[in-house]
Amino acid sequence: MSSDLLKILVLHGPNLNLLGKREPGIYGQQTLESVESLLKFEAENLGVEIFSQQSNHEGVLIDQIQGALSVFDGLLINPAAYTHTSVAIRDAIAAVAIPTVEVHLSNIHKREAFRHHSYIAPVAIGQISGFGAESYRLGLQALVTHLRSQ
Ligand code: DQA
Repeated sequence: MSSDLLKILVLHGPNLNLLGKREPGIYGQQTLESVESLLKFEAENLGVEIFSQQSNHEGVLIDQIQGALSVFDGLLINPAAYTHTSVAIRDAIAAVAIPTVEVHLSNIHKREAFRHHSYIAPVAIGQISGFGAESYRLGLQALVTHLRSQ
């Protein structure tokens, strides 16, 4: 990665590797690879660098967040089910204090009550939820706009 461009870490939580096959009525037909292509295209348009990782493991996501300190300028994260359970991911984001945008494919507020609460939202700049793969693109735009206005 070159040193002068903004660097964004993109993290995808559990089960997002199954996008395209997983409950397509809720999460859409797009695979994680196509979400990644969309993000790479948008990153080029915005003139930023992105590095993406998906993991089904809470500890791996926490290690990635900790490792982002002094390396990445921003974090775009879909914590998936960990949104609703993980104090540890929230604490990792608070610890590194890297500007973070939370994204969801589905509108979590329109779904089951247990999805309405996010442990991540209070440590994020904001949350984008309900626009399918577009949530990621909108989230990246919002994060980059925020970083450039600092
Ligand atoms: C999700 C919403 C979560 O409630 C769910 O557990 C996911 C995906 C979304 O992108 O809509 O795995 O984060």
